[in-house]
Amino acid sequence: MSFQNQSSVLHKFKGILFSTMSSEELLNSLDFFNAREDDVFLVSYPKSGTHWIAEVIGNIPNAQISLTSPIELGDISKFDELKMNCKRRVIPTHLSYNMLPVNIKQKQCKIIYIIRNPKDTAVSLFHYYRDNPNLPGIETWAAFFELFLRGDVVYGSWFDHVLSWEEHKNDKNILIIFYEEMKRDLSKSIKKITTFLGINVSDSEISKIIARKTSFSEMKNNAAKENCDPNHTICALTSNRNLVFRKGAVGDWINYFTAKQRRVFDELFTEKMKHSELARHFED
Ligand code: A3P
Repeated sequence: MSFQNQSSVLHKFKGILFSTMSSEELLNSLDFFNAREDDVFLVSYPKSGTHWIAEVIGNIPNAQISLTSPIELGDISKFDELKMNCKRRVIPTHLSYNMLPVNIKQKQCKIIYIIRNPKDTAVSLFHYYRDNPNLPGIETWAAFFELFLRGDVVYGSWFDHVLSWEEHKNDKNILIIFYEEMKRDLSKSIKKITTFLGINVSDSEISKIIARKTSFSEMKNNAAKENCDPNHTICALTSNRNLVFRKGAVGDWINYFTAKQRRVFDELFTEKMKHSELARHFED
């Protein structure tokens, strides 16, 4: 599929595809985004586990946070209203490092960047495209695979996105979290997050957060409930919450990639990630 066929619902800004909900005007206005020093940014390439990590943060006892809609989808004046709020703002975004408003960098706001295996991310994004009327219609996995390889999807190439953030992995205001690590040991990831945010939480509170609120089944059930609390993560982050929860698994890509697609993808991965230290997390 060419960009031409996608252009009814996507547009290019600085060479990257965005949904028309992130209008050019809105993206330009991000230059004037006024960050607060205590803001926390929750950054990811789409389908890497943003809702999950937001739910974890939203359930930290006494965190006093207020989750906003993604910076590139929201009305910037609403963020200013929240500026008056005494709660700490947690602001999601899928922007690459280079596109992040300069004010956020200047103020050294805390940033959590979540990364997921690109093959699982691609499969998850494929389903999201298929089910979401705000994204281009896509017929087959084979067609989507080609778009993903070329970075002709919303927010561009997974490789460019991850590499733009990896350059800053040692900045003291940036924490990198892996989806697969969260699956393996959620308590450990929550501990990393609370320590990074400077919030004191006991181990028993951590296990309560995990057990009660942030398991895949609990979050999926909440999403299915008709009356979603507007302050709830799922409702704040996405208008159609039922699109978010599919399998929540590691390694589902094996059910989609043909042997040839795997080979092609692995070759590209090796080439693009040859200088990346993060790449070793995704060897399969
Ligand atoms: P799948 O499509 O593979 O199921 P995002 O929040 O960035 O849009 O990412 C969505 C992906 O994260 C979906 O992946 C979704 O199922 C998964 N996810 C959301 N909450 C989860 C949880 N509590 N545990 C595991 N995966 C979760």
